[in-house]
Amino acid sequence: MVSKKLIYLIISVSIIIFNHKIESKTILITGSNRGIGLEFVNQYAQNGWNVIATSRTPSDDMELIKLSEKYKNISIYGLDVTKHKQIDLLAKELKDIPIDILLNNAGILGGNENLQKIGNLDFKSMENVYKTNAIGPLKVAEAFLENVITSNEKKIIVITSGTASIGNVKKSKYYKPLYLYRMSKTAINMGYKNLALELAPKGVHVGIMAPGIVETRLLQQAGYSGMGMTTKESVKNVIRNIENLDSETSGQYILFNGKILPW
Ligand SMILES: NC(=O)c1ccc[n+]([C@@H]2O[C@H](COP(=O)([O-])OP(=O)(O)OC[C@H]3O[C@@H](n4cnc5c(N)ncnc54)[C@H](OP(=O)(O)O)[C@@H]3O)[C@@H](O)[C@H]2O)c1
Repeated sequence: MVSKKLIYLIISVSIIIFNHKIESKTILITGSNRGIGLEFVNQYAQNGWNVIATSRTPSDDMELIKLSEKYKNISIYGLDVTKHKQIDLLAKELKDIPIDILLNNAGILGGNENLQKIGNLDFKSMENVYKTNAIGPLKVAEAFLENVITSNEKKIIVITSGTASIGNVKKSKYYKPLYLYRMSKTAINMGYKNLALELAPKGVHVGIMAPGIVETRLLQQAGYSGMGMTTKESVKNVIRNIENLDSETSGQYILFNGKILPW
């Protein structure tokens, strides 16, 4: 005869295992309506994550809306990363939701390559590039910090660019100065390096991730179209790097293939 105690024990253990299985993780992604961001939404949703997909124009983003009809674990919110009031409002709305991964993907090139050469620089546009690529991810990290701290994974990621590496800059036939873009991405690398050091005592891991050369609208605008990999391939690799992010690799500048880039 099986004792009552043993039956209680089996039931309790089963409940714990069941709860653990259904407890899925949450990721918030900026710039989710196209390119690399949309593919992050796709792959994380496929993997069973709760995806908070944010974009500037949520009601117009047909591809994202279609994806959210396919995967019920996607919820869509409006967010322009240059609008700090909007960021604070969304953080207030999501106050009680632990966010395992805060993924800052939104970014702009800042005009085509011809507008990013000496003699032709558009300084007005530079301000917007900094607001989007450098200040935005820092503000988002600050606003959602408590959500990250109360989560299990505690990860904050920025999608930077390999073109931000000063150590790797050399004149080649593919070289383009891209002043606005490259300077803003180098700036956020420094911001997130600081973030990694400052947040380490709170158990937060910070990823500075370069996705490689990827076929998107941004690549087209930069004049490198046809040279890149698919968003699927890049994102699969970056997700692996995010999974591997720990206290050792926090604050490192990591290319999609896992290589550490020089600053
Ligand atoms: N493609 C590459 O080869 C490559 C290489 C290195 C790094 N990256 C980085 O990867 C990230 C994604 O770029 P992508 O290649 O996928 O380019 P993309 O197709 O041009 O996508 C950029 C995304 O950022 C969003 N965005 C722009 N400004 C925003 C703002 N103020 N607030 C919120 N969202 C904003 C865009 O939304 P809208 O539709 O509203 O404009 C779009 O969803 C960027 O950070 C980029 O710098 C790309």
